[in-house]
Amino acid sequence: MRAELAELRQAALTEIAATRTPGELDAVRVRYLGRKGSLNAILRGLGQLAADERPAVGALANDVKEAIVAALDTKGAEVAGDELRRALAEERIDVTLPGRTRPRGHVHPLRQIEDEIVDIFVRMGFRVAEGPEIDDDYHNFGALNFEPDHPARDMQDTIFVAAGNDTLLRTHMSPVQIHVMSASKPPLRVIAPGTVYRRDELDTTHSPMFQQIEGFMVDERVTLADLKGVLIHFLRRLFGPQTGVRFRPSFFPFTEPSAEVDIACTSCGGSANPDPACRVCHGSGWLEILGAGMIHPNVLRAVGYDPQAVQGFAFGMGTERIALLRYGIDDLRLFYDNDLRFLTQFA
Ligand code: DAH
Repeated sequence: MRAELAELRQAALTEIAATRTPGELDAVRVRYLGRKGSLNAILRGLGQLAADERPAVGALANDVKEAIVAALDTKGAEVAGDELRRALAEERIDVTLPGRTRPRGHVHPLRQIEDEIVDIFVRMGFRVAEGPEIDDDYHNFGALNFEPDHPARDMQDTIFVAAGNDTLLRTHMSPVQIHVMSASKPPLRVIAPGTVYRRDELDTTHSPMFQQIEGFMVDERVTLADLKGVLIHFLRRLFGPQTGVRFRPSFFPFTEPSAEVDIACTSCGGSANPDPACRVCHGSGWLEILGAGMIHPNVLRAVGYDPQAVQGFAFGMGTERIALLRYGIDDLRLFYDNDLRFLTQFA
């Protein structure tokens, strides 16, 4: 029995030394010290020993039990420490890692330019109007003094909503003049940004859908000098206070007289010192920016105004063209591709 106890002690200590987790350790405890464990199995034979041997063997059994309990406690502390270290290592958070940033949206570059232009006119007392993108022949052409057989009405240029119908996608922003003037009385100062449509192939400078900004003013005694003053102020606000501005005679059905307005080239030496090889102005030193003029008396009459009593000026510009010049880029399609590598440069 002494030999059995010594063997049991040895076996228990070896197993305890080999455990790695609190669970394993507990299993060892039950196997050796549990009620149905190995130690009790041996002690059940105590009764068969001679009475004078029992105290010594009992004391030995106690020693063995204490040795095993001590080994279990020591190992238990060790294993618990391991467990804690493993958990700490696994669940470790690196607080120095960069956070996840949410991308922030921003206004589209075309809309930024539009806002900037509209703002300049709003500061001069103009109010914003928009008008319908789906319009009719009367507002887009007739009331604007286009001849009945004007080529702009051709299927070539205008996108009609249905064949044999006079419903169309507006080809310019000038019809907003007719909508606003028909619905209200002078004095009027209106700036009208919006989308227009033409039967154009998409290339670096054309698109079947593009943006224009129309403006007009109607009041008593409005003259060409007012037109020049407002547009020169506007262009110098947009392109810089020193910008050269030139008015050239031109023709539009809805204005008389009509002008095209140029600014000195923003890319080369400009009008004073043009670069003959400039790719933006082609060496002329000037860039066409606006169409403008005094509102034709026929247009005023079409909306029920008396051209003897009130006069007006009007102007229109292409938003993409101004954006291309301002940003120094040469392909309008970039504005419509929605490539974030392009768009995020304007955040
Ligand atoms: N509506 C013209 C166009 O689409 C632009 C324009 C020119 C507007 C002269 C005007 C103007 O108001 O006076 O090309």
